[in-house]
Amino acid sequence: MNLEEALNYRRAVRVFDKNKPLDPEKVKHCLELAALAPSSSNMQLWEFFQITRPELIARIAGACLGQSAAVTASEIVVFVTRQDLYRQRAQSVLEFERGNIRRHSPEERQAKRIRDRELYYGKLMPFLYARCGGVLGVFRALLARGIGLFRP
Ligand SMILES: Cc1cc2nc3c(=O)[nH]c(=O)nc-3n(C[C@H](O)[C@H](O)[C@H](O)COP(=O)(O)O)c2cc1C
Repeated sequence: MNLEEALNYRRAVRVFDKNKPLDPEKVKHCLELAALAPSSSNMQLWEFFQITRPELIARIAGACLGQSAAVTASEIVVFVTRQDLYRQRAQSVLEFERGNIRRHSPEERQAKRIRDRELYYGKLMPFLYARCGGVLGVFRALLARGIGLFRP
């Protein structure tokens, strides 16, 4: 099945057959594919949890207002945004980028490219994601509006 066929075929399932067990390996593979999704600056500020314990599924189904899809699901995957992980993730992407540059960039360009990435992930990302009790958010919003005034 190609992508177009898959898009035409897929639909929202509202009731699951409890007698048809899921293949855990297939679910795992789907999650591995989901992890390939692009994200802003490759920060991947998300986590997902594969919920298989019936008592936890029942609680989540309650949070889903008892919708039949959740009530009849034998597994639920919960996607969570993790803004708080920005330092670790910025560090990981920086390490990845350093390796990438060393492997693929012409030698004479490597030092500058690495410096650029260090600035981006070492300074800009922490500035953009840090909260400082909401103070930085207000400052960032004002800064973005100020910059917007000078853009066509
Ligand atoms: C972000 C999002 C939230 C949704 N929430 C619900 C939901 O709470 N309950 C539900 O039955 N379907 C939900 N749906 C499914 C949509 O109703 C469904 O995709 C749409 O009606 C089109 O139907 P199809 O997916 O079968 O083509 C949601 C879909 C999206 C993308």
